Amino acid sequence: MIIHIGASSKMNLTSTQAAAYLDAVRPMVADLVDRNVFVLLPFTSIWVARERLAGSNVRWGAQDVHSQDAGAHTGDISAPMLADLGCTYVEVGHHERRRDYGETDELVAAKVEAVQRSGMTAIVCVGERRKVAMDEVVGELHRQLRLLGSADFRRLIVAYEPAWAIGVGANSAPPTYVGAVHDTIRAQLVEMRAEGRDVPIIYGGSVTMKHASALLAQPGVDGLFVGRMALDPAVFSAIAHTHVERDWSRGG
Ligand code: PGA
Repeated sequence: MIIHIGASSKMNLTSTQAAAYLDAVRPMVADLVDRNVFVLLPFTSIWVARERLAGSNVRWGAQDVHSQDAGAHTGDISAPMLADLGCTYVEVGHHERRRDYGETDELVAAKVEAVQRSGMTAIVCVGERRKVAMDEVVGELHRQLRLLGSADFRRLIVAYEPAWAIGVGANSAPPTYVGAVHDTIRAQLVEMRAEGRDVPIIYGGSVTMKHASALLAQPGVDGLFVGRMALDPAVFSAIAHTHVERDWSRGG
């Protein structure tokens, strides 16, 4: 399976800053033709990505979307609007949106459908809110994933992002733990549908250069989703170039 390396700038990078950022990132990762590299920007900077990344190996996308395609939803952005800007990906259900806007698993599932209706790939974030025992983690993931039953698995990436590992002051979840959780996510997806075998499962939460190679060494980890460390183009590029030392015979 191909390795996916994504960045979300979250609420950072004005359109002017995004131009400089993308102009720096693009040549640094141009050699990574055998990996899937993507950046998710604020809505106001996506047009810049279309301008600066067209024709490159870097794909772009958004960090959220409304669940409906059009209508009376002041201030919201629809999937057709994002598809029109050339987005390949739309992230949905990030912990910060669940926390700040009370987004429910049901709403997240509706957003996944909206993204896919417009021909884009949904990156759906799942993960436990607090550090709890593994069986509770599995239960929480089960409830989040179950709602994706009618999603198109060919246009889906699952991002495992435990809330406690995200953001300033947090540390990446331990690689072996991440590997074990990814295995349970995989099992759940396959149980839902045979195509669940091919849905990429990536990890996000305080990914740094230090942890990247141990995380990617886990057979169940198909890629990394990088937040604050990706704001430095050189660091993002270094993470994207991480050498993967893995026993491929174990799958992945
Ligand atoms: P972080 O963000 O790398 O800054 O922890 C990761 C994420 O929220 O995807």
